[in-house]
Amino acid sequence: MPGLAAFNLMQWIADHDDVLKPPVGNAQIWQDANFIVTIVAGPNERTDFHDDPLEEFFYQIKGDMTLRIIEDDRIRDVPIREGDVLLLPPHTRHSPQRPEPGSYGLVIEAQRPEGHLDAFEWYCDRCGHRIHRDEFQLNSIVDDLPPVFRDYYASEELRTCGNCGWLDPGRRPPPPAEGLPRITMG
Ligand SMILES: [Fe+2]
Repeated sequence: MPGLAAFNLMQWIADHDDVLKPPVGNAQIWQDANFIVTIVAGPNERTDFHDDPLEEFFYQIKGDMTLRIIEDDRIRDVPIREGDVLLLPPHTRHSPQRPEPGSYGLVIEAQRPEGHLDAFEWYCDRCGHRIHRDEFQLNSIVDDLPPVFRDYYASEELRTCGNCGWLDPGRRPPPPAEGLPRITMG
């Protein structure tokens, strides 16, 4: 068994250049560790919000990103610029926006203990009500996430606002925060 050794992070990122671009755009550094440490790259823009039962740590290494969050029932864009760090409290609804090709950052999460559930949520552009929430025990980022997105984007029923009837048009960059209504988490 080899001894413990450090390695150069920038070299690791360069070595994973092939997956750090669309359609994948992320790579997990260690497998089977309690810290889930990933490099996440742009471009990637999305309208889903993640509800993580534990904290998330962001360190933006190259280029800028924006973390769209829900705070006091409002959608707000928090810039995370190159060199910035941010510690996101548990359950803060967040939607990472990485519009810059070639940008990337480090994200650290922790393995979820049994019973600490994750969720993804979508909100109505027109009335602010929650359109859909999918809650689950996260065991594997690779295996557990794709079905959540596949199911939502495949179903007009799931994408229809139960309050006002607006149909979420599907995968797209998010609309400007300024025009969006007050959020109702439902
Ligand atoms: Fe609505």
